[in-house]
Amino acid sequence: MDSAAIASDLTETLVTEQQIHDRIAELCRQIETDYEGKPILLVGVLRGAVMVMADLARELRKVDVEMDWMAVSSYGAGTQSSGVVRILKDLDSDLTGRNVLIVEDIVDSGLTLSWLRENLESRGPASVEICALLRKPEAAKVEIDAKYVGFEIPNAFVVGYGLDYAEKYRNLRDVAVLAPHVYA
Ligand code: PRP
Repeated sequence: MDSAAIASDLTETLVTEQQIHDRIAELCRQIETDYEGKPILLVGVLRGAVMVMADLARELRKVDVEMDWMAVSSYGAGTQSSGVVRILKDLDSDLTGRNVLIVEDIVDSGLTLSWLRENLESRGPASVEICALLRKPEAAKVEIDAKYVGFEIPNAFVVGYGLDYAEKYRNLRDVAVLAPHVYA
């Protein structure tokens, strides 16, 4: 797909690459303060979190970080989370005594993270917190206590910076609204 074709699939840029860069730096300063002297295990949730994980991990300079990954899938058809999650790829790390920071691209209904937090908390970590680049407050079905949130966005179909539609657009640098003609 060339850039003109991609542009015609998008209606509006919601968050620019520069805004993402600046906000991740702010979040990292806060994380460095909160975790001073405490190594963090960053847990990225595949696949959407790949971009934010890469940028966040490289921006954290004053605290030791390790990275691990999980892949989960919501049961049920369609694009909506059902809240029933199955693990497709589990962590390689033992969480006992670890300070875990879950890294996500987006909190939508909140069902995935609600399940994931409870699952990871049952493995004996010292702490579990959540960092999500985006949150859609209007889409919340459960309240998620995410300590680090980049941007609150409207309840629109967004793609880019890890977020996909049918596996496309994840590599866009901005977060943008997908034009209805693409999925209608
Ligand atoms: C997205 C996102 C979160 C989840 C959020 O993942 O990365 O994991 O949905 O939705 P929720 O708050 O409604 O539960 P998705 O299942 O689309 O997989 P992907 O990361 O591979 O794109």
